[in-house]
Amino acid sequence: MFSKEIYTERRKNLIKQLSGGLVILPGNSDVPFNYPANIYTFRQDSSFLYFFGIKQPDVIGIIDIDSGEDYMFGNDVDIDDIIWMGQQPAMKEFAQKNGVKNTFSFSKVDDFIAKALSQGRKIHFLPAYRAQTKLLLENLLGIPTNEINNNVSEELIKAVVKLRSVKGKEEIEDIERTIDVAYKMHTTSMKMAFPGTKEQEIYGKIEGIALSHGGPVSFPVILSVNGQILHNHHHENILKSGQLMVTDAGAESPMHYCSDITRTTPVGGNFSQKQKEIYETVLKANVEVIKNSKPGIFYKDMHMLSAKIIVEGLKAVGLMKGDTDDAVAAGAHALFYPHGLGHMMGMDVHDMEGLGEDYVGYDNTVKRSDQFGLAFLRMARKLEPGFVITVEPGIYFIPALIDIWKKENKSAQFINYRKLEEYRDFGGIRIEDDILITETDVEFSENRFRKLLRKLKI
Ligand code: GLY
Ligand code: MN
Repeated sequence: MFSKEIYTERRKNLIKQLSGGLVILPGNSDVPFNYPANIYTFRQDSSFLYFFGIKQPDVIGIIDIDSGEDYMFGNDVDIDDIIWMGQQPAMKEFAQKNGVKNTFSFSKVDDFIAKALSQGRKIHFLPAYRAQTKLLLENLLGIPTNEINNNVSEELIKAVVKLRSVKGKEEIEDIERTIDVAYKMHTTSMKMAFPGTKEQEIYGKIEGIALSHGGPVSFPVILSVNGQILHNHHHENILKSGQLMVTDAGAESPMHYCSDITRTTPVGGNFSQKQKEIYETVLKANVEVIKNSKPGIFYKDMHMLSAKIIVEGLKAVGLMKGDTDDAVAAGAHALFYPHGLGHMMGMDVHDMEGLGEDYVGYDNTVKRSDQFGLAFLRMARKLEPGFVITVEPGIYFIPALIDIWKKENKSAQFINYRKLEEYRDFGGIRIEDDILITETDVEFSENRFRKLLRKLKI
């Protein structure tokens, strides 16, 4: 955990953002895997972690905006728990670590909320993404489970997004540590990318690296020679010479901060000329975005910059044609680059996505487009110091998408469909780094990698 002062300060900052009422932040519960006692690895809710810091299941945090008081409702372990899990800190000990003043047993929360409701007080809660949380809120608030997410507090969502978007020094240090773990995961993946190796072996090895550093992976590892499938979780192929292997993977730290890095490696170590040309274009898009990102820049403009670089690169190899700006405005590049440039990253790899993507990546200065490709951009708004974001352009040759566009002769003035046939089996390339927006420009994961290389004297 961070210091008591950090959690106390975060709760105080939340109080300053809200007009009144009670904030209820339920922590997560254990989830059964295939029978009740065989559970998934416990993962605490990120907003609960942000304000209360403790990883114990079945704890509810409440902040009274009007009185400034804070509360935790949870049970101390009993002798049965101690026999199976060992001694665990009591709620009062947790409260000493996060500065919460009032602790009660779990069952007391019913009366506490019932009293607030009878007084007509506003109860703020965030969108729930687990059925257990919806059931808990249904029991406490009397709102049917399928109506819970229609009754969330927009005021609370906006306040939490505002606070969690700007990372503190202690959060940045933790993210940097998970980037170091990602470095080990990716260099291991590259070193194993030889003909005859099964994707599964590399997948297992690099997931093990994350686990051996104390966290799980920050999302299920994407590792495939079929990189044109953006989130490919099939790992049964045996690597063959001449293929490209996409590895999109990151670790979660014991404090639950994430890394999210993608590298594309030629199996056996050498790119063909055709692969090199496409790779260099994706790399240029990645590098130019990193160079141009700074406070005050709309990230949507960085997405457009990456799209232009991709169009230029595809024009150079004869796959696209016409005016670059017109092609990007028409969304023609999305045949090859059908996703957004990046997303916020923090305790969730797509940070705060469960609170609503548009609250995180958009605001009243920039609205989400409905154009294919651009519509999937998760982060569009102005960059501010303390934001941590991914930069992940890619070029993909997706046969099913090519067939649809070709049949419709879509954007035919910008796409050379005849030449495209030569690339049908190319696969895909994505390159992803994580950047921190500083007061003046950016710090990014590659710098961290270079420091590690110097330390390792490679
Ligand atoms: N790295 C996976 C993703 O950003 O969706
Ligand atoms: Mn990502």
